[in-house]
Amino acid sequence: MTRASLDKQPHEVASMFDGVAANYDLTNDVLSLGQARLWRKEVAKAVAARPGQQVLDLAAGTATSSLPFAATGAYVVPCDFSLGMLREGKKRNPWLPLTAGDATKLPFKDDVFDTVTISFGLRNVQDTDAALRELYRVTKPGGQVVICEFSQPTWAPFRTVYTEYLMRALPPVARAVSSNPDAYVYLAESIREWPDQPALAALLQKAGWGKVAWRNLSGGIVALHRGVKE
Ligand SMILES: C[S@@+](CC[C@H](N)C(=O)[O-])C[C@H]1O[C@@H](n2cnc3c(N)ncnc32)[C@H](O)[C@@H]1O
Repeated sequence: MTRASLDKQPHEVASMFDGVAANYDLTNDVLSLGQARLWRKEVAKAVAARPGQQVLDLAAGTATSSLPFAATGAYVVPCDFSLGMLREGKKRNPWLPLTAGDATKLPFKDDVFDTVTISFGLRNVQDTDAALRELYRVTKPGGQVVICEFSQPTWAPFRTVYTEYLMRALPPVARAVSSNPDAYVYLAESIREWPDQPALAALLQKAGWGKVAWRNLSGGIVALHRGVKE
């Protein structure tokens, strides 16, 4: 398995991430031109974790996305269904309670977490609605969701340049730095097909989330969506 198809069969997605696990974080930094670090800082601000809180980092991969929450003293559970990504995460962060689980059937009880968050993961889940409902189920009443995902640049000329980067420049750069360049062709295609900011906000509302809002990062290359379990 080199890349998943756009129907995102779970076994294909998991096996694609198993294959890129060892180089995942480095490739991310290169392909995002360093922006990934900035986006993670903004996610940490939005999550605003505090000591004693329970935070679920879904689709956590190697758990790099979980580290800023753990640093606050919150209890963070990184969860993912790629055993390859989890193994890589366990090597680097052995103290974290990395947990195997599918976003559409989470292995947690109802009303457990103060914040549930997912960075660059939701786009890869085959059934987005089911994942948003599961995130809602495991969140405490009054708790929040923070979603960090690629989105649509809002300024049309920039959107054109960015789409060109995704479809033309990213695959050759990925060939130079990644162990599995085809996975990055999937990345480009899946970003192009993903709902824009208002459409994702509507999906959150449909799953039950209240006070839904979003904020654009890097001109809308990435959007942070929030919602509250009222
Ligand atoms: C691009 S990585 C993001 C990893 C990490 N959150 C980050 O920001 O670096 C996407 C992750 O989503 C996971 N994933 C995709 N579908 C999933 C599902 N249905 N359940 C759990 N994890 C899933 C993949 O295994 C992969 O590790």
